[in-house]
Amino acid sequence: MSQTRPEVMEKITSLCKRRGFVFQSSEIYGGINGCYDYGPLGTELKRNIKNFWWHWMTRRRDDVEPLEASILMHPRVWEASGHVGGFSDPMVDCRVSKRRYRADHIIVWRPLEGADVHPSYAFLEGAPDTPLKKMKKALRGKAPEELFEAIPFLDLPESARASIISPDADEPGSLTEPRAFNLMFKTFIGPVEEGANTVYLRPETAQGSYVNFHNVANSARRRVPFGVAQIGKAFRNEINPRNYTFRTREFEQMEMQFFVRPGSDEEWFEHWKANRMEYYDALGVRKERLRYHPHGPDELAHYARAAFDVQYLFPFGWQELEGIHNRGEFDLTQHQEYSGKPLLYFDEETRERYLPTVIETAAGCDRTVLTILCDAYDEEETKKGIRVVMRIPPKLAPIKAGIFPLVKRDGMPERARAIYENIRREFRVIYEESGSIGKRYWRQDEAGTPFCFTVDSETLENGTVTVRNRDAMDQERVSEDRVAEYLRERTAIV
Ligand code: GAP
Repeated sequence: MSQTRPEVMEKITSLCKRRGFVFQSSEIYGGINGCYDYGPLGTELKRNIKNFWWHWMTRRRDDVEPLEASILMHPRVWEASGHVGGFSDPMVDCRVSKRRYRADHIIVWRPLEGADVHPSYAFLEGAPDTPLKKMKKALRGKAPEELFEAIPFLDLPESARASIISPDADEPGSLTEPRAFNLMFKTFIGPVEEGANTVYLRPETAQGSYVNFHNVANSARRRVPFGVAQIGKAFRNEINPRNYTFRTREFEQMEMQFFVRPGSDEEWFEHWKANRMEYYDALGVRKERLRYHPHGPDELAHYARAAFDVQYLFPFGWQELEGIHNRGEFDLTQHQEYSGKPLLYFDEETRERYLPTVIETAAGCDRTVLTILCDAYDEEETKKGIRVVMRIPPKLAPIKAGIFPLVKRDGMPERARAIYENIRREFRVIYEESGSIGKRYWRQDEAGTPFCFTVDSETLENGTVTVRNRDAMDQERVSEDRVAEYLRERTAIV
C-alpha cells in the first residue's frame, strides 16, 4: 500500500497559508522557488521548536556549550571542509525545455529484455505516471511494469542515456550527460566582484563549531568530551527544491558537534543515536512515524565514518529529518592542514595529544516545523461537521490559549479581558469576543491552540472559568486566578 498522501499535503499547505503558518516568499511578485516565509503562527511555532532543542541540548545536560558563528566565513574553510571540491549534485539538462534536474532523482522506464518496445522514458522519482501519455502507443493497453523496468538514470550506461525521452520533451536524446553542480551560494566581500573576493553562504553550521573548537574549549574551560550547539541559517542552491518547506534553498539548522577521545566514538555515537529518538519522543512526534535509516557505503557523505538518519513518514513518504554522523577526525584534520594552525587537544588525564573525534547531530529546523505540522493535522467527524484540528503539542503551540467571554454583556468581556491582560506577557494568548463560542473554539482548533478559557455566568458567581481542551473537546472549571498556573504546568519547556 502506498504510504504517500498527497491530498493531505495539499490540505496542510492550504491551512498553513490561510491561518498564517507559512507563506510563499515574495508572493506578490510571483514567489521565489525554494524560499518560504513564516507567518505569525509559524514564527511562534518555529521559535518554540528552537527553544525546545536549545533546552534539550544546553539546559538538560551540562556538557554542551552554545555558539553562534557567522554565516560568512573565510573561503578556505570550505576548501578544507571539502565543500568547494565535492559539495555538488550531478545535474542533467533537457536541451529542449531548458529545465535542469538532479540526475539522481531521474528514473527511467527501460524496455524489458524481449519486449518489443522502445525507447526509454525518463520521469522524476515518485512520479512514474508522468510519461504515460507518451508511452501510450508502446504500451498497447498494458501497464508499464509489463513491458518496462524502472531503473535509476545513473545506473544506465552512457550509450543508453543518450536516447531517453526526457520528462519535458517528445524526441529521444535531449538529456545531457550529468555534470557536477556546486550547491554553495557565492557572493563577494567588498565592492569588487572578482574571484579573489568570493565568499560563500555557509551550507551547514557545523564548520563554525570546528574552527572554534579551541576558542570554546579554552574560554569555557571545557575538557573532552563536550559538545558545541548552534542554531542558524544555512543555504544550498538546491536544484529541485520540493515538497513544500522540506527542501528549500534557505533553511535553518540545529546542529550539535560532540568532541570525544578517539576510540570512544562508537560508544558516543550510540549514545547520541538513542538520545535523538528520545528527543523526538519528548518533542511529541508520533512514534510510529519515526524510524532510523542507516547509511550504506554509497550514501555516506565525504566526511562520515558512519551515519544514521532519523526519518519521518511525511505525507510524501519516509524522508530524512535529521542526520547523526560519526565524522571521525576529518574536519579537524582538514582545518589543521589548511590553516596551518595546530588543533591538537591536550588531554590532561591521559597526558596525550590528539585530534578529537566528532559525533554530530544535524537537525533541520524547518523540517521539524513541517514534521510537527504534518503530525498535528487531523480531521474529525462531529455532529456539527468535519472539525479540522492541529494537534500541536501544547509546549510547541503558537498560541497557548484563547480567552473568551461567553457573550458580549453582563460584564463578561471586562472579566475576560482582565485575565488576558494578566497573562499575556508570559504566554502568547489571544482575546476574542465576536462570533459564536463554537466558532471561536473551531478557529483555535485550526491554529493548534490547546486551551480556551471562557468567562460565563458562573464566573460572575464563583470566579471560575471553563477550560476547553482542544484534543478531547472536554471541559473543566478552574479558578480565574489559576489560569496562568494552569498554562505553566501544561505548556512550559522543561
Ligand atoms: N552538518 C551536516 C549536515 O549539514 P545534512 O544531512 O546535509 O548534514 C542536516 O543536513 C539537516 O539539515 C537535514 O537532516 C535536514 O533536516 C536539514 N536540511 C538539509 N538540507 C536542507 C534543505 N535544502 N532544506 C531544508 N532542510 C535541509
